[in-house]
Amino acid sequence: LAKVEVGMSAIAEGTNVIIKWRGKPVFIRHRTPDEIEEARSIDWKTLRDPQSDEERAKNPEWLVMLGVCTHLGCVPIGESGDYGGWFCPCHGSHYDISGRIRKGPAPLNLEVPEYTIDEGEGKIIV
Ligand code: FES
Repeated sequence: LAKVEVGMSAIAEGTNVIIKWRGKPVFIRHRTPDEIEEARSIDWKTLRDPQSDEERAKNPEWLVMLGVCTHLGCVPIGESGDYGGWFCPCHGSHYDISGRIRKGPAPLNLEVPEYTIDEGEGKIIV
C-alpha cells in the first residue's frame, strides 16, 4: 500500500502539518516540551478512551494521527478547543494535545495510524 514520507526538518516545533494518506487527512504535530509535559501529566486512566501519551506518541516530540473526528468524521481544527489540541466544529468535540477526546460527543481518541520515524533520514513514513 502507498506510503507517504514527510520531511521532519520542514515542520517547526509548535506547528502542525496536514498530509493526505489514502484519501484521509493525517495530522502531524511537532510538539513543544511544554506540550509533551502537559500531555504526559494527565491522569489518563480517568479519560473516556483511556490511553497514555506514551502509547500514542512513541517519540514524544511527534504526534501523528488521522484527522478524522471519531464522532461522525469531520476534520477537526488544530490549535483549538478547550484542551490545547484540536476542536471539531461539527458538534463540538474537544481533543487534547495528545489527540485524546476530552469533551463533546466523540467516543474515541483521534486514531494513531501505523507509522515509522527514520531519525537518520529525518522522515516520518506513514
Ligand atoms: Fe466531530 Fe461530530 S463529527 S463532533
